[in-house]
Amino acid sequence: MTSVEQISGKKILVTGVTGWVAGPLAESLAAQGNTVYGAARFKDPAQRQPWHDKGVQTVSIDLAKGNLDEVPSDLDLVLHFAVAKSSNFEEAFASNAHGSADLMEVAASRSDKLSFFHCSSTAVYEPKHGEARKETDLLGDSHRPMPGMPTYSISKIAGEVLVKHTAKRLGVPTVIARLNVPYGDAYGWMSFHLMMMERNIPVPVHVDQPTTYTPIHADDINRSIPYLLSYANSGAEIVNWGGDQLVSIEDWCEEMGRLTGIAPTFNPTTATIASIVPDLEKLHNVGFHSSIDWREGLRRQISTMRPELLKN
Ligand SMILES: NC(=O)c1ccc[n+]([C@@H]2O[C@H](COP(=O)([O-])OP(=O)(O)OC[C@H]3O[C@@H](n4cnc5c(N)ncnc54)[C@H](OP(=O)(O)O)[C@@H]3O)[C@@H](O)[C@H]2O)c1
Repeated sequence: MTSVEQISGKKILVTGVTGWVAGPLAESLAAQGNTVYGAARFKDPAQRQPWHDKGVQTVSIDLAKGNLDEVPSDLDLVLHFAVAKSSNFEEAFASNAHGSADLMEVAASRSDKLSFFHCSSTAVYEPKHGEARKETDLLGDSHRPMPGMPTYSISKIAGEVLVKHTAKRLGVPTVIARLNVPYGDAYGWMSFHLMMMERNIPVPVHVDQPTTYTPIHADDINRSIPYLLSYANSGAEIVNWGGDQLVSIEDWCEEMGRLTGIAPTFNPTTATIASIVPDLEKLHNVGFHSSIDWREGLRRQISTMRPELLKN
């Protein structure tokens, strides 16, 4: 495997730091010797101190309101993970599309060495019976059937379009990374499924089974960032982002059942997201492969989040 150097000695803004994916990443980057600013709305000032304790300075931004005054100058890199999961299209477009473009514009006006990493989602694809989706494949509204996510796919597509347009207009080296299913020791979609299993609630899976994805652990998310950034250019290259192993919701629930002794039941339905498998050829072509086996990742997650449930 080609080795790409870890990022160190850089001045980095990580947005969405209070969220699942960006928080652990910001912490790792700070530990690697970067100057890291973590951005969220921080409506409650008490939310900031825990980040300072982890070596991450805090910055308040509001993408929906265009409040970007605290974006630092002379940044080397923006890692943009903030996302609004709103049921209102105006709000979702304001944060996820206009807000993303505004963020690039403001950061670029304050730095002449900026690169921009835009976290998108494989939610932008039209699902096709679990067939691997290439970056050039058809887009669609995959998340519309999922309760609570009516704007997600479309506003993520809109975000990509505005980010690409802005990168071209300003000449900012940019990569748009379409993330599949992220999880870590302390977060992940599967943790909701485990809560359902405990309560004997059938886990929704798509009728077009198995409901397959390519989960990627937080450790591999961190390791993969420099590989993805190797694609950054002012045309805003799009690259799929996931782990090497194909794992279905059915698989990970069965494995959580094995680890805890709580057997899952399933509810095959059309009111959920269908299987979306990204084609990872571009990511693999620059030498990245995931390293955390999904079963080991699940065990780590349960032993961090719900140790009392582990059988052994
Ligand atoms: N989670 C997944 O399964 C998944 C899958 C594929 C792709 N992704 C992508 O990965 C990225 C991170 O997702 P996540 O699940 O970690 O997100 P999350 O846990 O929902 O966190 C969202 C983050 O965005 C911030 N945010 C929301 N509205 C904002 C606004 N108006 N201004 C500034 N910040 C705002 C939140 O901060 P406050 O609310 O504290 O202000 C929070 O830090 C997103 O781009 C998402 O599309 C996620």
